Amino acid sequence: MSHSILILNGPNLNLLGTRQPEVYGTATLKDIEATCADKAAAMGVALSFAQSNHEGVLVDALHDAKGKHNGVILNAGAYTHTSIALRDAISATELPVIELHLSNIHAREEFRHHSHIAAVAIGQICGFGAQGYPLAMDALITHLGEDK
Ligand code: DQA
Repeated sequence: MSHSILILNGPNLNLLGTRQPEVYGTATLKDIEATCADKAAAMGVALSFAQSNHEGVLVDALHDAKGKHNGVILNAGAYTHTSIALRDAISATELPVIELHLSNIHAREEFRHHSHIAAVAIGQICGFGAQGYPLAMDALITHLGEDK
């Protein structure tokens, strides 16, 4: 049976491409989605892609992922550093989640060094720009394969 994965993006990531390109690069979220869709097709996995600027919508998306998807790649944006609700939602779904950031959060401002999500994620990928998304897909699919 083929795996289904959700790539979920949080606040301000809809602005990728024009938002601080020196930090986040020039690829748009649509470009990233297209790259991931091609990779998913090549890997034979089902892929859903979503973005919201609203914390509760992201919580709902995690709840909805249970039973629909086998794992989640989550770039929670700034909610990474603030949201206990997102952390609790990840714990509640019991789905494997990879925490993703385009930038290296550990090399940036102090307030970005702490992640509420890290402790409930299977791992974290950060600092590789848009390339982090396909990297996370490889990591998640390998992890899911090992689960079987
Ligand atoms: C981010 C890093 C966060 O600190 C920031 O608030 C974002 C994007 C990243 O992808 O590098 O919005 O998650």
